Amino acid sequence: MAFESKIKTIEWVDNVSRMIDQTILPYEFKTVDIKTTKEMYYAIKDMIVRGAPAIGIAGAHGVSLSAIELSKTINDKNEFLTELQKQADYLKSSRPTAVNLMWAVDKQMQLAKNTQGDVKEITKALIENGIKLENEDIEINKKMGDYGAEVVPKGATILTHCNAGALATVGYGTALGVIRSAYAKDPTIKVFADETRPRQQGARLTTWELTQDGIPTTLITDGMCSYFMSKGMIQMVVVGADRIAANGDTANKIGTYTVAIAAKYHNIPFYIAAPLSTIDTSIKSGKEIPIEERSHEEVTHINGDWICAKDVNIINPGFDVTPHELITGIITEKGILKPDFETSIRKAFLNN
Ligand code: MRU
Repeated sequence: MAFESKIKTIEWVDNVSRMIDQTILPYEFKTVDIKTTKEMYYAIKDMIVRGAPAIGIAGAHGVSLSAIELSKTINDKNEFLTELQKQADYLKSSRPTAVNLMWAVDKQMQLAKNTQGDVKEITKALIENGIKLENEDIEINKKMGDYGAEVVPKGATILTHCNAGALATVGYGTALGVIRSAYAKDPTIKVFADETRPRQQGARLTTWELTQDGIPTTLITDGMCSYFMSKGMIQMVVVGADRIAANGDTANKIGTYTVAIAAKYHNIPFYIAAPLSTIDTSIKSGKEIPIEERSHEEVTHINGDWICAKDVNIINPGFDVTPHELITGIITEKGILKPDFETSIRKAFLNN
């Protein structure tokens, strides 16, 4: 069952990629038009657009923008494809952890290489494919929502971490898509949203989008989850993912691992909601997932203000890896994958 979310995070409009500027939410709602490859690189790197599926689509649009730029000066197809590959590699280097970026850019490059016809025809095909991937993202999220809603206990309070909502995708969301679909069936469900330091995606983005949809949401700080679990106030956890290894180990926003350990201790089901494009079958385990190291300022400052001693040491990994043993199930557009994940993931890809 689909609960309509009004948010469209990224959209191809008149040969530009239009996206919601997530750096200024929830204070201001503004869209920006990204017109060049370089602008797209920085939109992803600086997190104007963020969330694994959304940056995948941003990458796909980025390749379309590169093709438009290059086709203005290059007519030779081989030279065009060589230069396009350089731009694609540049786009892929904007953020390292979310594999959807590499997946979407590679898909565009495969299409460019396989398209018969001249430079103009390749460019047209890339634009069309970017729009297709954009539309498919919403459909995939709604399918995940339907599957996920089946395992939400009646009247549950669901804990989520970071933002895996409409804002992290083209629309509807992965983890928040499950919540939206569950809420459409059972309006007695409630959400606890972790604040998600350091960038506060939970506080700034998740509460912003869920309250707009009228879904009852309580904001808690990251250290509170065990306390509420011990009080019997949380019945389920659902989070998104940035990269899932072939054995089910899952990278997601820093702090997710802590939530998973707490959920295991309290016997609370812990679900990942992610499309198959987030699963990287080329890597065996989470040990191989590259973890983004982000700026120290994200930790030392809140809203531009220093919050600690000026000479303290800082370390700021953007993601952690939850071992597959802590995961109850992975909700995908092909159904809910269960342990052992090595087998269920392999089967999901066989039928894909
Ligand atoms: O650093 P971000 O904001 O891009 O991190 C996002 C997350 O970790 C999300 O939870 C993840 O991408 C899943 S999005 C559907």
